[in-house]
Amino acid sequence: MLKKLLVAPVNLLVKPFPRAKRRLDEFKVNIRRWHKLRYFIGDITQAKRFMFWAEHDASYAKLSAELIFQYHKLEKGLCISGPKRFFGRDPVLATCKLVARWHRAGFSTNDPVYIGAIETLRAYRNRLDETPPPSHEAASIFTALDACIDTSMPSAPDSSTPVPYRPTDGTTEIFDQLCKDRRSVRSYSDVVVPLDLVQDAIAAAQLSPSACNRQPWLVHIYRDPKQIARLLELQNGNTGFGHQLSTLIVICADSRYFFDASERNQPYIDSGLFSMSLILALQARGIASCCLNWCVAPDLDQRAHQQGNIADHEKIIMYLAVGYASANALVPRSPRRTPQSMTTIHDN
Ligand SMILES: Cc1cc2nc3c(=O)[nH]c(=O)nc-3n(C[C@H](O)[C@H](O)[C@H](O)COP(=O)(O)O)c2cc1C
Repeated sequence: MLKKLLVAPVNLLVKPFPRAKRRLDEFKVNIRRWHKLRYFIGDITQAKRFMFWAEHDASYAKLSAELIFQYHKLEKGLCISGPKRFFGRDPVLATCKLVARWHRAGFSTNDPVYIGAIETLRAYRNRLDETPPPSHEAASIFTALDACIDTSMPSAPDSSTPVPYRPTDGTTEIFDQLCKDRRSVRSYSDVVVPLDLVQDAIAAAQLSPSACNRQPWLVHIYRDPKQIARLLELQNGNTGFGHQLSTLIVICADSRYFFDASERNQPYIDSGLFSMSLILALQARGIASCCLNWCVAPDLDQRAHQQGNIADHEKIIMYLAVGYASANALVPRSPRRTPQSMTTIHDN
């Protein structure tokens, strides 16, 4: 109302002067842009609340992420080819400290994150026989390692690290076909997708790469039509087919798995990679899907968190419509740019 009262007379005033009118229009566009840029304030607040690691924070989320982050450096180092040399002083000490914190916090020693840490320390300890640490560092490293691992205990065969890389052979056609057949489907049958198939697809997608293997993705699966409808009401791209969905997935990323704001884009990258794998894994099981953008103002984002029982530390990355395509479903051709137009070869 106030806006109308202020803007209408100014509009009238400049109407006879085309240059002034153009200036005013530009000014209005800029105001609108700046107004939307306030969305970044929400991102900053979220990063400040959840994204920083601190020694006193003994939450499982942060401790497990930091533990993976540190021991992954050792795991990677063990796979580097070429002449071998000593490496890993800082990460091994950090990993051992985190293992001690893990015990103090009382977290499970059957957890794959913990087992991964111990197996990596064990492999690293063996490697030190070949490439020992400098003498002035040896005592602190061996003491830390001995406090964490029982070297007399053999590794479980399916958790030892590193493992041989296995090149894939003979799946080119299958993969290319999967990529060609996967389309964003906007017409679904009323046959409900079995939950275990969705869960199988999620297990396959979990093998996606992520920064330092922290796997920040979180998946919410909704099966209640009323809750699906409430969540879809907040999303602007499901008109005409949202009501057909009996399964809706919301893919999130846990902000607490990132050490500071320099990683601010990583949740989107990691969970985006996961999302693509999930979409292909669903397609491979005969299940169609359609990504649904999550380009919303902070207040809508907050409402989706409430409607979906999604915790504040979870960033919503996107919704995913999931279902069996209806018989004779049509999809847009959606032509692609040429590969040449998006590729630059730097070979000199
Ligand atoms: C992040 C993301 C958000 C999307 N959001 C929507 C959406 O809100 N509604 C929709 O109908 N399609 C959405 N799409 C689907 C795209 O329109 C579609 O992927 C694109 O046109 C290519 O078509 P194809 O997926 O059939 O190959 C989205 C896709 C992505 C990757």
